[in-house]
Amino acid sequence: MTVRFAVLGAGRIGQVHASTIASIPEASLVAVADPVVDAAVSVSTKYGCEIRTIEEIETAHDIDAVIICTPTDTHAELIERFCRAAKAVFCEKPIDLNLERVKKCLDVVSETNGTLMIGFQRRFDPDFRVLKRTLDDGTIGNIEMVTLTSRDPGPPPYEYIERSGGIFRDMTIHDFDVARWLLNEEVATVQAAATVQVDQKIGEMGDFDSVNVILTTASGKQCTITNSRRATYGYDQRIEVHGSGGSVSVENHRESRVEVANIKGYCRPPLLEFFMTRYDAAYTNEICAFVQTVQDGVAVPTTGEDGLKAFALAEAALKSVAEQRVVLMKEILD
Ligand SMILES: NC(=O)c1ccc[n+]([C@@H]2O[C@H](COP(=O)([O-])OP(=O)(O)OC[C@H]3O[C@@H](n4cnc5c(N)ncnc54)[C@H](O)[C@@H]3O)[C@@H](O)[C@H]2O)c1
Repeated sequence: MTVRFAVLGAGRIGQVHASTIASIPEASLVAVADPVVDAAVSVSTKYGCEIRTIEEIETAHDIDAVIICTPTDTHAELIERFCRAAKAVFCEKPIDLNLERVKKCLDVVSETNGTLMIGFQRRFDPDFRVLKRTLDDGTIGNIEMVTLTSRDPGPPPYEYIERSGGIFRDMTIHDFDVARWLLNEEVATVQAAATVQVDQKIGEMGDFDSVNVILTTASGKQCTITNSRRATYGYDQRIEVHGSGGSVSVENHRESRVEVANIKGYCRPPLLEFFMTRYDAAYTNEICAFVQTVQDGVAVPTTGEDGLKAFALAEAALKSVAEQRVVLMKEILD
């Protein structure tokens, strides 16, 4: 069975997912919805799909699944609407900007027996998957410390930041998810530091652009996350895991592996530009996994619960910064 899709929101990530759907034989892109005509027309023209309204997609008999790529503050309502309309839902992170609202949304998913997958694509990155398998097969012994480095080449537009919920809920949330996945044990405490060093206007909007977080589990495993909205040298995405029997790491991806050496030193190509290229394979793999879920009814790999837990870590980090102390996760989730 071919899974028939509609993409809601044809911005940066909507265009990535539309392109992936169009390239998968088991999927077809039937429709796109976006109130910005140019955005909708660009996807419609490129992939030969119809432009429809949200209401038309909700009641359509020729659509099995939707991909929600709209601004974050619209996600919860759209998830609920499409679960009620019996469409399988893939939604970009985060589910909402308020923890209680996230919980209510997940209640609706469960009451309607809905299918919901959250877009934590890093779990589908081929290198990160090999790293995870290395941890699972015990090659480096017990996991003791995880180090995650994620730096964007530059900040997103101000209009995006305004609706994003801020760096912890928007950007660090990917690292929170990866931390939970790799640590394989829930986080017990969160300690965060956050400042504005890239763009003062981001600070005036109540957000930060440079953050560090330390997560600790009940058994004492630690994860350090370092995020910046600026990296002059490209999209900086690295993982290192240190264990009782060694360490395992994934380095940055570059445009090629060619290195030139001469009297001036060693020269390598720049890093890949941003998420659209660095996580290209990951986006394809996650949509393929979602298609399989819809076709075979297998469990979704990144669940609403994963979305909730990662978001709760973002809330803890915000509280840690505001109150300048270590926050216990039971303060946030109990
Ligand atoms: N997983 C990832 O790597 C990743 C990367 C980028 C963004 N995201 C997430 O995806 C979401 C969108 O981010 P973006 O960078 O693509 O934003 P964007 O601003 O580039 O695109 C959002 C699009 O949604 C459209 N839109 C607004 N309201 C709508 C509605 N009610 N119905 C249909 N379309 C609507 C806008 O016109 C715009 O074209 C955010 O929640 C963000 O957190 C995830």
